[in-house]
Amino acid sequence: MQSKISVAPMMDWTDRHCRYFMRLLSPSARLYTEMVTAQAIHHGDQQKILAFDPLEHPAALQLGGSDPELMAESAQAGASFGYDEININVGCPSDRVQSGQFGACLMAAPDVVAACVRSIRSSVSVPVTIKTRIGIDDRDDYSFLLDFIDATAEAGCDTYIVHARKAILQGLSPKENRSVPPLNYERVYQLKADRPKLTIVLNGGVTTVAECKAHLAQVDGVMVGRQAYHEPWFLTELESAFGGGSVPRDRYDVVAAMLPYVEHELADGALLKHITRHMLGLFAGLPGARAWRRYLSENAHRNGADSSVIMGALARLPEPGNLLASKESAAHSTGG
Ligand SMILES: Cc1cc2nc3c(=O)[nH]c(=O)nc-3n(C[C@H](O)[C@H](O)[C@H](O)COP(=O)(O)O)c2cc1C
Repeated sequence: MQSKISVAPMMDWTDRHCRYFMRLLSPSARLYTEMVTAQAIHHGDQQKILAFDPLEHPAALQLGGSDPELMAESAQAGASFGYDEININVGCPSDRVQSGQFGACLMAAPDVVAACVRSIRSSVSVPVTIKTRIGIDDRDDYSFLLDFIDATAEAGCDTYIVHARKAILQGLSPKENRSVPPLNYERVYQLKADRPKLTIVLNGGVTTVAECKAHLAQVDGVMVGRQAYHEPWFLTELESAFGGGSVPRDRYDVVAAMLPYVEHELADGALLKHITRHMLGLFAGLPGARAWRRYLSENAHRNGADSSVIMGALARLPEPGNLLASKESAAHSTGG
């Protein structure tokens, strides 16, 4: 069963530190990894690429690739690390991705994706899902999308995350192609209406709880990307509206819950800046948000930076809250 809300795979953003932080904001949202290529898993350090904290569940591993055997091997590696879902990337338009024959260009090769679905399904027991676009280049008629869905559903995929915007394979950067051409939510609604047995998750441009609510009246789930990253508190609003899990009382609670993780990770050799970069937007929209952001940005990269940088950033907020007070009194009582 999919959670109704999920957080999008975002390269360079949704790494394990980011997912841990997001999990504190939303106990039930499904969290996707950045895209990992099957080649990288085959050749690389799997522990480094795939390991994650148990708190991150439910977590989905997004794979990029088109070789059924390599995809199955990578999926197996992912399943052995405990991922709850294997997702195939059929949405990324970047040139680098096309030259490797994966990402959005695979919408034009449904038989290849179907072979990957079959091969992955025969080697793992967790669900195999596909993240795709509504079309590519001039192949943006509804029947093109439907043919792709039918061919891969026949192979055993029953959950689709559909970014409601076609991919442009030439002439636009992936970044540009996340805001143009316009979104077409009707296509995604239509797909759900025509294939009611499939689980259809809508993605693209969703920034408010009200928008989510409207989409959920038409489809099974909503995936949010940039808004959740830039203003992570949005995830608590989504959790309260659709998830039913308990959410932190305020942003300070989230910071408090991050501190043991930060300390543990630093002891393990992580760098503070790699964790705090995902927390910059936590206070977005509140007084002091800029000071919080600036303090972290200017100090987290320094040699030996530790969790005291986070305390310093908190102190820049107009109401540093009980967290700072209790931490300080604990430090005094231990003579620290
Ligand atoms: C920085 C960044 C990296 C992304 N990387 C991936 C990726 O690795 N795999 C993928 O399927 N989509 C990727 N996307 C696209 C998102 O998953 C999502 O489809 C897109 O941002 C639209 O959703 P949004 O409007 O809610 O952000 C990326 C988006 C961003 C902003």
